[in-house]
Amino acid sequence: MTAVTVRAPAKINLHLGVGAPGADGFHPLTTVYQAIGLCDDVTAGPSLDWDLAVTVPAWMDAAGIPLLGENIVDRAAALLAAHHDLAMTGEVVITKAIPVAGGLAGGSADAAAALVALDRLWAAATSDDDLLALAALLGSDVPFALVGGTALGTGRGEVVTPIDDRGTWWWVLVPSDEGLSTPKVYRHFDKLFPDAPATPPPADALLDAVASEDPLRLAELLHNDLQLPAIDLRPDLGRLIDRGQNEGALRGIVSGSGPTCVFLCESADHARDLAGALGHHADGREHPAVLVANGPVAGAHLVEYV
Ligand code: C5P
Repeated sequence: MTAVTVRAPAKINLHLGVGAPGADGFHPLTTVYQAIGLCDDVTAGPSLDWDLAVTVPAWMDAAGIPLLGENIVDRAAALLAAHHDLAMTGEVVITKAIPVAGGLAGGSADAAAALVALDRLWAAATSDDDLLALAALLGSDVPFALVGGTALGTGRGEVVTPIDDRGTWWWVLVPSDEGLSTPKVYRHFDKLFPDAPATPPPADALLDAVASEDPLRLAELLHNDLQLPAIDLRPDLGRLIDRGQNEGALRGIVSGSGPTCVFLCESADHARDLAGALGHHADGREHPAVLVANGPVAGAHLVEYV
């Protein structure tokens, strides 16, 4: 074998209900994830040492990406190697398409893809249960990046239950030129909502809307408890959402902890039209890219094995 390539998707949260933080500092979540067709690839080939490189598209600033030794892929490799008592070896390349620190779980996608790629490279035959448990150690969103599709997330987001989703949902994504730190947004949530309920708001109505396959119904029920704190920290996001809705989006929301904003559309054509209308100056501020993606798509999966 010379290399395996594993692809893993970005996620958006159709519903992100956040409760008051527990003793461990994490917030209990009731969330509905959707994997969308904006993916990072992780290619792993044999080597006597460990090496990690990252390539980015022209529009993406590579400066924010943690380098060799500090990337979540290093942690994923170290965990998997320790789990099997193997040496951590490989020549690994991450090919990014998912914005960094964007609220789209790009790092989690890389970690999930690395687990699957290195499992193959090392012929480790890790069970699905073990892979999910290792993923949960790497981050709250990593198990979902393995599972993909549309899924309910509970616990701190790491307990994933797949949901039957027959719809094809079209999204326009507007990343920001400046990332937003997830812990910072959660801390701001705590400041704005000191009396948040212990149990996060449920997702039942949203799940009914997903089952309806009707984007107009889904648009009404999209919900993100981190949106207010994110906009309070970054008022430009509020202006961007207004602009997208004025340009005809069914609804715009902040994705996860932001700063990427996502706009639900009725169809592929509608999404392309909206992306064109928003252009790169979506709110009077320059945006690095305006992207179109649909969901749900598969979780981390092998795309090349040579
Ligand atoms: O699990 P992950 O590493 O993605 O979490 C990053 C940070 O986001 C945590 O350190 C914590 O500050 C915050 N977080 C949280 N509650 C969650 C998930 C994440 O407070 N359910």
